Amino acid sequence: MRNRSRDSERLKNNRIMDQFSLEDKIAIVTGAGQGIGKAIALTFAKAGADLVIVDIDAVSANSTTQEIHDMGRDALALSVNACNKDQVDGMVRKTLKRFKRIDISVHNAGGGYPTKPILEMLEEDWDKSVTLNLKSAFLCCKSVGKIMAKQKRGSIVNMSSMAGFGPYPLGANYAAAKAGVKNLTENLAVELGPYNVRVNALAPGPVETPTIAEYYKEHPEMKEQRLRAIPLKRIAVPEDIANVALFLASDASGYVSGQTILINGALATFVTPELIAELGKRF
Ligand SMILES: NC(=O)c1ccc[n+]([C@@H]2O[C@H](COP(=O)([O-])OP(=O)(O)OC[C@H]3O[C@@H](n4cnc5c(N)ncnc54)[C@H](O)[C@@H]3O)[C@@H](O)[C@H]2O)c1
Repeated sequence: MRNRSRDSERLKNNRIMDQFSLEDKIAIVTGAGQGIGKAIALTFAKAGADLVIVDIDAVSANSTTQEIHDMGRDALALSVNACNKDQVDGMVRKTLKRFKRIDISVHNAGGGYPTKPILEMLEEDWDKSVTLNLKSAFLCCKSVGKIMAKQKRGSIVNMSSMAGFGPYPLGANYAAAKAGVKNLTENLAVELGPYNVRVNALAPGPVETPTIAEYYKEHPEMKEQRLRAIPLKRIAVPEDIANVALFLASDASGYVSGQTILINGALATFVTPELIAELGKRF
């Protein structure tokens, strides 16, 4: 009797874990050559998905794809600029040709860090960040969304940032673009809800990816300020973000849509006393 109840408990637990499985799902991840995108792709492969590895850099896309093949899953590498409509439409066409459907699409390509105050910002700084972070998400959402609406099934995960939730001193171009991604996510979730397509976004705080590690090397004071302000007392690693992406991609989040999930170790704000003091000396 005791064993049977233990077995039924185990079965129940198995069913719960099954909801996090991506067994035989087809997932696109953009910007998957390195950093958070790569961690998301590897996590999805571990959960059973076959992957389309998209990156503007063909070498890193091929290298992530090779790692997924080594794990025994199928993967297709595509060299695509996520800011270019024709290339994004091509990504969707090639995915369908190879895998016949798209279950999950993670629009992670993007990036940026604090560089200058708004009064010193050039028009091109603004355009570059909005194109890389917001236009790319729009193009991917539109192209993938059309297919998912026809399929009457799918999960889209966009990449916003904690920077999109409030002030991000010296990075207003990036912050505004990521706030746009949050709003795009809310709108698309409403428009695609009737087609059984869920749309959510991730909003990480600081994550130590290769790009951000380089930035911290040049600005060690920024890393120290972040570490002092994060209650969990560490900067996130890409896998911290990938685990939440897995939840949003999987059936475990079947009633979650239109949400942008903060993953920031309880960091309350990017506005530090040191930055306020520095900003006050500029003009
Ligand atoms: N690292 C952080 O602290 C942090 C925090 C919040 C949000 N994010 C967001 O997470 C995402 C990934 O960040 P990361 O730190 O892993 O970046 P990263 O620079 O380490 O990696 C980005 C990847 O995207 C690719 N890429 C760049 N432009 C592209 C384009 N136009 N088309 C296709 N691929 C392109 C790059 O080649 C690279 O492989 C970004 O959208 C970033 O804004 C990062």
